Amino acid sequence: MMTAKKLYIKTYGCQMNVYDSERMAEAMGGEGYVTTDSPNDADMILLNTCHIREKAAEKVYSELGRYKGLKADKPELKIGVAGCVAQAEGAEIMRRQPMVDLVVGPQSYHKLPQLTARTHNGAKALDTDFPEEDKFEHLKGRPKAKRGPTAFLTVQEGCDKFCAFCVVPYTRGAEVSRPAERVVREAQDLVERGVREITLLGQNVNAYHGHDRGLAGLIRELSKIDELKRIRFTTSHPNDMDDDLIAAHGECEKLMPYLHLPVQAGSDKILKRMNRQHTAEEYLKLIERLRAARPDLHMSGDFIVGFPEETEEDFQATMDLVTAVEYGSAFSFKYSERPGTPAAERPQVPEDEKDDRLQRLQALLVKQQRALQDAMVGRDVHVLFEKSGRLPGQMVGKSEYLHAVHVQAEGISAGDLRAVRIESSGPNSLKGVLLPS
Ligand code: 5AD
Ligand code: SF4
Repeated sequence: MMTAKKLYIKTYGCQMNVYDSERMAEAMGGEGYVTTDSPNDADMILLNTCHIREKAAEKVYSELGRYKGLKADKPELKIGVAGCVAQAEGAEIMRRQPMVDLVVGPQSYHKLPQLTARTHNGAKALDTDFPEEDKFEHLKGRPKAKRGPTAFLTVQEGCDKFCAFCVVPYTRGAEVSRPAERVVREAQDLVERGVREITLLGQNVNAYHGHDRGLAGLIRELSKIDELKRIRFTTSHPNDMDDDLIAAHGECEKLMPYLHLPVQAGSDKILKRMNRQHTAEEYLKLIERLRAARPDLHMSGDFIVGFPEETEEDFQATMDLVTAVEYGSAFSFKYSERPGTPAAERPQVPEDEKDDRLQRLQALLVKQQRALQDAMVGRDVHVLFEKSGRLPGQMVGKSEYLHAVHVQAEGISAGDLRAVRIESSGPNSLKGVLLPS
């Protein structure tokens, strides 16, 4: 019997890359590759890269540098670069790092086996096209093996919004939605394999138009899958939050009360320069409507501090907005200049100013996150159990609000959804006791 070849994939960046890495592993599985956790025994190394903030390309080059010795010892080792850095700088990567055999952009993953085949005898392969087709249809179906209770499912890719700081519209291309029937088929398959919670992914997921009633239509459709217990989606743009999707938060029991809705900044001047196409007031009104539909909704967001020409007053407007919303969790970043984006041409905020603002914003966000987590004590939640905890007899899962919850109990398995009374709140998680089912 031929021994399987080993594939090592290192994934950077967002959840969509996690999903894409799984798909690439499956596509290469059809070519006799199994995945490995170590680059040292790999026959193929793939870096699935992220380009959203600076130094991304440098990170890729330094990671590649580490593989020089491996490639020298084993010349048949194939090294590939995938993801958004590959899309943005593919030819440059090949020029600067001759050890790279193949470069594949996010829209061409279905061609990975073909491209790999082309790299025999030291030949190079590069594909960073934007074809008009559903790459996931070409990737082999997920193998029927059992899997954990939660999964990501990409339903939409690309972005037409062109926020002034962001490379995504350039690296992932225009917005494309997968037809609802394909998404439903893939969801059914996941459920048959043990998945109970699906997070629908898209760079602009609420601009989904693969169903005639948009993302809300898709969510309602997926809700009909009996054994699928929970649905989430990320990431959304405030301007695509339509009435039906707002209503779905109140009407669809399976849609979880946790929404990632980035606003980036609280000053209208900065929002305008970011090309966000909405004001702070409009964002706050939207959250009011969402909370009217689902009063216990936990909000999450993304923030950028030190965007070009942001003054202390502008920054205070972000702090005020955060104070008004009370986020359950959030991601905050220092603005980082991305070549080719409009904001990179504007006067920059000094680095120490950015550091100082980030510290103050993060302190406020951590305080809010902690307060909302602590407020869960004494409440009854539902926990979808995912795995054993570190202590014997302990299981860990997530509440509907995405808090990690530890429970000490016999007879719970991964995939069980159980009612739990929260008894205490620790630094990163909650503890609770099972309620009778
Ligand atoms: N600098 C800093 N943060 C950025 N993001 C996107 N581009 C940049 C940039 N140039 C952040 C935004 C976005 C998240 C995924 O990454 O907050 O919502
Ligand atoms: Fe980037 Fe803005 Fe599109 Fe989000 S909406 S991916 S931040 S351009």
